[in-house]
Amino acid sequence: MIRIDVITILPEMIQQGISHSIVRRAQESGVAEIRVVDLRQYTHDRHRTTDDTPCGGGGGMIMKVEPVAEALDDLVGGDAKVRVLLTDPQGRKFDQAFARELATEEHVVILCGHYEGVDERIRQHLVTDEVSIGDYVLTGGELPALVILDAVTRLQTGALGDEGAPDRDSFADGLLEHPHYTKPREYRGWTVPDILLEGNHALINRWRRKEQLRRTRDRRPDLWEAYTLTELDKQLVKELENTETDLCP
Ligand code: ADE
Repeated sequence: MIRIDVITILPEMIQQGISHSIVRRAQESGVAEIRVVDLRQYTHDRHRTTDDTPCGGGGGMIMKVEPVAEALDDLVGGDAKVRVLLTDPQGRKFDQAFARELATEEHVVILCGHYEGVDERIRQHLVTDEVSIGDYVLTGGELPALVILDAVTRLQTGALGDEGAPDRDSFADGLLEHPHYTKPREYRGWTVPDILLEGNHALINRWRRKEQLRRTRDRRPDLWEAYTLTELDKQLVKELENTETDLCP
């Protein structure tokens, strides 16, 4: 059971994003409690202002510190164990290892960054982690928050129905996934590999492992370099290399 609070100026966007599929079912079954918190609730002026012009001048609007601090007082109450994330393209890159780390927490808060930036005092005093979902700039932190909470929620025990499923994900063991097929066995002349139809599970597992190795080696040199081959893997890679040199004499 994990609790995830999302602090946002666009609560409908988060609400919509958590109302489907596995993330919705995880909430219904008590695997995850997700609270959507409207930052404007913590403003006190008539216009419910959450941003202001930068001290020192210049363009762009800056997210104000007071509504964020008050929201966090309410949600966290000074509990130092709570992870408070700020979505920010300058932050630590989000990946499966980071998702696994967050999935072990009891309580995570995600503050969706906005405008040209946030008041530096938010970073200095209120946030534990700054998180980027990739090297591109989005208009706000809501999509990153949904990405993070989806990846973290599906790792909770019981979230996927099938307990073993996260083990089969890409990256779970440092390799990409093998190809998948379903029926029909032939469509427009595009066929399913025979080995998957012959019912020999030892051979199927071997084939799948070999394809995981092939994909990772060919597509993700970064993962390939970090991966330690088992004895079986070494044999499978040799087989791959042999068939490849057969094809290109
Ligand atoms: N806000 C804007 N772009 C972002 C990104 N790539 N990751 C996290 N937060 C962001």
